[in-house]
This record gives sequence, structure tokens and C-alpha cells, in this order.
Amino acid sequence: MALVPQHIAIIMDGNGRWATSRGLPRTEGHRKGAETVTRILEAAQKRDIKYITLYAFSTENWKRPSEEVDTLLNLFRQYLKKDLSELEKKSVRIHFIGDRKRFPQDIQDEMNRLEKITFEHDKYHLILALSYSGRDELKRAVQKLITHVKDGILEPSDISEETIVEMLDTAGIPDPDLMIRTSGEQRISNFLLWQLAYAEMYFSPVYWPDFTAEELDKAIEAYASRDRRFGKIK
Ligand code: IPE
Ligand code: IPE
Ligand code: MG
Repeated sequence: MALVPQHIAIIMDGNGRWATSRGLPRTEGHRKGAETVTRILEAAQKRDIKYITLYAFSTENWKRPSEEVDTLLNLFRQYLKKDLSELEKKSVRIHFIGDRKRFPQDIQDEMNRLEKITFEHDKYHLILALSYSGRDELKRAVQKLITHVKDGILEPSDISEETIVEMLDTAGIPDPDLMIRTSGEQRISNFLLWQLAYAEMYFSPVYWPDFTAEELDKAIEAYASRDRRFGKIK
């Protein structure tokens, strides 16, 4: 069993509390959190983590006050145009998972552009979960499957775990080995419900804006000491 996880998925939580605890508006926490993304992506590459998935905005986060949603949209816009375009030069393939149709057209265009120009990269993969939830992804997967059955492409008896996996937003991406959630909360909050079936869980008390490469190392160390059995007996 590999000691270094091939795929780490992170629920980047605690931006709001980081800001509030300093007497700052929540949106400052999101700004600071965006800097952490860059820092952690660099650290992950140095540690040769091939896949990293970041939960940046959930389907449910659309229900937050419009000022907060607007700030987040502006940050995504900036991040996509500037920081992610930089990654293009570093052999990173960028993927977006989630219902991107809910974003303004210019953000969708940028997502499509980044996916297209990094399509051939394979050294590292960055998967950004935006307007994502596990249940919404499964709902959309079921819709696709039913359409295939209706069109005669699939028989109901052809449906296997593999065909379901192909319908998910994460098709082609291996399941996460390690799931990290920051900020002390210990729940999945509708993240990769299918894909986390056998992931190791690690909960860090640190708010996302304060998360560092050292904190990432603690999670990787904890992972290395886990005994992954996948239901079998050694
Ligand atoms: C995570 O931080 C970022 C998003 C969900 C967009 P939060 O905004 O959830 O911060 P807390 O959990 O309220 O502190
Ligand atoms: C999960 O965090 C979503 C992201 C980090 C993007 P939330 O802050 O939205 O989750 P809950 O509300 O604490 O479960
Ligand atoms: Mg939160």
C-alpha cells in the first residue's frame, strides 16, 4: 500500500470563522482562503500528490446572503483568470466538477477554456468542486443513465458500478485516498458521496486561511499510519 496518498480531497472550511474571530468581515476570510489554495497546491505538488480535489463552493452555499455569494463569484473569477492560468504552464490538468450552468456565462467560459487548454496534461490533476454536491452529482448521473436507457444505448441490466462511475463528474479520476476537512467540523457536507466510500478521513482544527504545508504533512503522516483494509482481512 502506497504511503503517500495519490489523491487528496479537501473540504476547505473555516474562512468565515477565521475572519469573524479577528473582527473582520467574512469575505476577508474568503480572500485569505484563496491565498491558502495557492500555497497548498504548491505543497501538494512538491510532495508528489498526483490528484488534489478542493471543495470551494457547494450547491447549498448558493443559499448564503447575496453579498457573500457575489464576493465569492468575484474571487472565483479572479482566481480562474489569474492564478489558475498560471498552473497551465506547470503540467497541471484542471477539472471542474459540479453544476457549472449555475454560474454567470463568463465564469463558465473560463472553466471550459482552462479544461480545454490543460486537457493533455497528466503529471498533476487539480479538481475544483464548484456549485458541487454529491447528491446533485448523483441526480445528474441518474438523469444521464435514464436518457441512455431510453435511447437504447444501455439496457437496465447493463448498469454496473462502472457505468455509474462513468456518469459522474469525476469520471476518469481515481477515488480520493485521503479526505481532509479543516476548521474542526467533522462531517462530509455533501462532498463526494460516492467517491469517498473508502477514503481515510482526517479532521484538522485549523481554519482554512491558516492551513499550511506543515498541517498538510500532519494529515499525510496520519494517513501513512492507517491500515486500509477495504473490507478484507489481512
Ligand atoms: C468555507 O468557509 C468556504 C465556503 C464554504 C465557500 P466558510 O465560509 O464555510 O467558513 P465558516 O465555516 O463559516 O467559518
Ligand atoms: C462545506 O462547508 C462546503 C465547502 C467548504 C465549500 P460548509 O461550511 O458549507 O458546510 P456546513 O454548512 O458547515 O455543513
Ligand atoms: Mg463552513
